[in-house]
Amino acid sequence: MAEAVRVLVLHGPNLNQLGAREPDVYGTTTLAEIDRRLEALAKERGAEIESFQSNHEGALIDRLQEAQTRCDGVLINPAGLTHTSVALRDALTATDLPIVEVHLSNVFAREEFRHHSFVSPIAVGVVSGFGVASYRLGLQALLERLDA
Ligand code: DQA
Repeated sequence: MAEAVRVLVLHGPNLNQLGAREPDVYGTTTLAEIDRRLEALAKERGAEIESFQSNHEGALIDRLQEAQTRCDGVLINPAGLTHTSVALRDALTATDLPIVEVHLSNVFAREEFRHHSFVSPIAVGVVSGFGVASYRLGLQALLERLDA
C-alpha cells in the first residue's frame, strides 16, 4: 500500500491565542479545534497532518527543515510573519514542497501593511477571509493538488 500523503500545518505567532484574541476579527474557534477539524478532514481523505504553532520565527523554520523530508506539502498561516519574514519565505522555498497560505481574516480588507505577503509569491495559492473555513479550503486545495 502506498504511504499516506502527509501535510505539515504551520501556525505563526499569536495564533495560540485564537478563541480569545480579537474574536470580532478572528472568530471564537480555538487553535486546538482548528487542528482537530483539519485532522478529521485529512483522515477522511486518507491523508495525515502534523501541526505546529510557534510565536518564534526560528522555531517555525526549524520545524519546517526537520519535517520537510517526511511531508508532501505545507499549509501555513504565517500570521504576522506573512508581512515581515524573508527568512520564513526562504525556508519555505527551500523545501521545494507545494505551499498553501491561509488567513482567517481578509488581509486585503485590512490595514495596508497586511496587503503585502512575502509568502504569496512562492505559494501555490492563498485563501484569505473565510475564518476557520480558510484552513479547510486551503487543506482541500492542497490535497487535491497532491492527488493530481
Ligand atoms: C492573519 C492575518 C495577519 O495579518 C495577522 O498578523 C495574523 C493573523 C489571519 O489569519 O487573518 O496574526 O494571518
